[in-house]
Amino acid sequence: MAANRRHVVVTGTGTGVGKTVLSGLLVRRLVRRGRTVRAFKPLCSGGRDDALHLEAALGGLQSLDEINPWHFDAALSPALAARLERRRVDLAQVLAHVRAHAVGAGLVLVEGAGGLLSPLTADGDTRDLLRRLRAIPVLVASNRLGVLHDVRAALACLPPSVRHRTPVVLMDPAKADASTVRNARCLSEFHPADHIVELPRVSGAIQSGAVAPSAALNRRLDRILALLGA
Ligand SMILES: Nc1ncnc2c1ncn2[C@@H]1O[C@H](COP(=O)(O)OP(=O)(O)O)[C@@H](O)[C@H]1O
Ligand SMILES: [Mg+2]
Repeated sequence: MAANRRHVVVTGTGTGVGKTVLSGLLVRRLVRRGRTVRAFKPLCSGGRDDALHLEAALGGLQSLDEINPWHFDAALSPALAARLERRRVDLAQVLAHVRAHAVGAGLVLVEGAGGLLSPLTADGDTRDLLRRLRAIPVLVASNRLGVLHDVRAALACLPPSVRHRTPVVLMDPAKADASTVRNARCLSEFHPADHIVELPRVSGAIQSGAVAPSAALNRRLDRILALLGA
């Protein structure tokens, strides 16, 4: 592994929390800043939308099959969906793929599937992947009632060596609840406040790159990237 290459694993408290939206925004920001970035969604299930989103964000730097070498039909965890098709993917294969295609990249971003402990391959989950890659995790969660438990539980499961330096990104939900404006402050009682970033709703036009992010959004993305040493 190149000494100056950073690996970042975008994980979260579950599915549908905003991991792909954030991954796309970070990749676009890095490309814009002239950084050499590679992105992967190694295992997709129930469609390849996440990989297509990353492909668009990368602007042709990587092919779809390079970003996403394994995909399964069923909208289940990749491990279960693979089993249904009598196929097997092991962590070692995922690691070999990422390493082979990360040559020359300063930053390698890998999106997990589901939450930190969702079964990913036949023999591991996203936590195993981030350990083996010696990656820094980004923990994405939806900023709604229940997020305090979900984030604390996920943080507690992270390797102690990375737990306290893990950026936690609270994504604004489509509909805020009474907790939304309070969660970040409350979480700061359990996790360094400067490692908690709230991200607003982002329009489809910004997500697709048709419209540039506002300066305020870029500042937040840069904050996350700075926490990742990027
Ligand atoms: N900050 C946000 N602004 C707008 N839409 C968002 C935001 N975060 C998540 N979404 C929407 O929520 C849904 C799930 O987000 P996604 O990034 O696909 O989640 P995950 O990758 O964790 O499964 C998508 O429709 C996405 O567009
Ligand atoms: Mg996703």
